[in-house]
Amino acid sequence: MCRLLRSDASWVTLISVKTVLTQSAIEAAAFIKRGGIVAFPTETVYGLGADVFDESAIRKVFTAKNRPADNPLIAHIGSMDQIRLITDRIPSSAEKLIEAFFPGPLTIVVPRASTVPMIATAGLDTIGVRMPANKLAQDFLRECGVPIVAPSANLSGRPSPTTWQSVYEDLDGRIDCILQGEPTTIGLESTVVDCRGAHPVLLRKGAVSLENLRAVAPEISEAGAEDVGTARSPGLKHRHYSPRAQVMIADDASSLTLASTEAYIGLSTPEAGSAHIKICSSINDYAASLFEFFRECDRCGIIAIFCERVEETGIGAALMDRIRRAAEG
Ligand code: TXA
Ligand code: MG
Repeated sequence: MCRLLRSDASWVTLISVKTVLTQSAIEAAAFIKRGGIVAFPTETVYGLGADVFDESAIRKVFTAKNRPADNPLIAHIGSMDQIRLITDRIPSSAEKLIEAFFPGPLTIVVPRASTVPMIATAGLDTIGVRMPANKLAQDFLRECGVPIVAPSANLSGRPSPTTWQSVYEDLDGRIDCILQGEPTTIGLESTVVDCRGAHPVLLRKGAVSLENLRAVAPEISEAGAEDVGTARSPGLKHRHYSPRAQVMIADDASSLTLASTEAYIGLSTPEAGSAHIKICSSINDYAASLFEFFRECDRCGIIAIFCERVEETGIGAALMDRIRRAAEG
């Protein structure tokens, strides 16, 4: 069976494949070794992986997601020695961050080794590297034996998946295998830091907060508006994180009255409510729940989602970043 997909560049044909569901890291890694593409859990969101050295598998990742070819992928490593396969030089700022935050929800951007295919990094001479802390991700990466490039395992423009069921919803028939793990614990994509220059630059906010980074690298700065869409931060210009419903930021959540086609997520309890309300027990719970709540609202035909504003410290900064992007989408 064939399906026609609209990609940014042209109409492309995607042959429908059988998507195997498995809980076995060994079975999932076998698909990678045969040139296939596999979704797997990490502590942030599920990723869609391919062998970093397999150009044709990487091409399949872009096609399956309908991802613009100018948005580079992150390479996931299972052990520290693998970093030498994808970069020739680890700048000193990167060394400090690796020491403090690997394995975990941090991606560092470093110079790309010439052996890494250009398609993986969208033609850039740098590559994002991350070592996930999730146990099943580590088992999978160890079995693969090579670094695995992986964007989030959603269709481009949709919220990143935090459960294997959400991966299935977007990518069934488009990818070879889903490694079924638990729902992800953090729920927002990794922090991305550019480590090429003398001073590191924060490109994307995540669970490793600016405060955490400053404790290790006080000289770090944040990417400015001038960096959007440039080689420094190609991903920032793309539409992201959006449910189909309109997202709105609620400043005074406790006085909200909601209609039946409206939904709410936050820490406070709204005054009167529809059936689609999620009261989170903490800021971490709010971050972990956001993307799945967006998807749930789309499944129920909700037309507007109110998200309570939170203080922009710690993971609150990453959470508000994602909510704002969804509200703009
Ligand atoms: O938590 C995560 O980072 C997840 C899991 C699967 O690891 N992955 C993820 O990948 O969110 P993706 O492709 O959805 O987002 C990668 C971000 C994009 O904004 C991209 O532009 C940026 O990282 N990025 C990747 N390589 C880069 C590079 N060489 N230079 C600058 N930005 C880069
Ligand atoms: Mg993504």
